[in-house]
Amino acid sequence: PEKALAAMADQTPNSLDALNRIIASAPPMVEGGTRAVLGEGPLGAAIAFVGEQPGDQEDLAGRPFVGPAGQVFDKALEKAGIDRAGVYVTNAVKHFKYVQRGKRRLHQRPTAGEVKHYRWWLKAELDFVGPRVIVAMGATAVLALTGKALPVTSNRGETRFDNRAGYITVHPSHLLRLPDEAAKRREWDAFVADMRRIREIA
Ligand code: URA
Repeated sequence: PEKALAAMADQTPNSLDALNRIIASAPPMVEGGTRAVLGEGPLGAAIAFVGEQPGDQEDLAGRPFVGPAGQVFDKALEKAGIDRAGVYVTNAVKHFKYVQRGKRRLHQRPTAGEVKHYRWWLKAELDFVGPRVIVAMGATAVLALTGKALPVTSNRGETRFDNRAGYITVHPSHLLRLPDEAAKRREWDAFVADMRRIREIA
């Protein structure tokens, strides 16, 4: 982290491309992480979605939200009539934090300290993109955007992140971990309803 932070302090990027070059060349600030998975989407996108960190598939593909959680995310966007190509999608932490277990790479949740190390990048990135609404998906994104460990459930819905409209919802992987069909149905409907509301306010 110290090396990466020093590298950041040395360079003040004047564009998203310049920032992305810095992110791509900085060493990971978490255990694991072969490469930085950069945010994706147009400058000036009305909506920016923030996840936790790239997973195994994202690390391999070099693109955010392309694995199992990404498929849930894509389906919900489609259902709500949001074109993924028109929105900005990024992560609070830019590297895949994992431990190796045999052939598998097991996802590890980033610590609050690690999330804070990545906050400067996220803030700079969102300032360049300039969305009307920033959407935090899950507790890590909320921590990254507010600096506070706020519970998602009691804060779900419209909010503000600094001076921008914000929205807090669950992380799409939450929908993959539910025990029964009734809960899945209920949580899916609530997630799609959030996406529809986000589309309205954007
Ligand atoms: N989960 C995330 O938070 N981000 C991704 O890019 C993929 C899975």
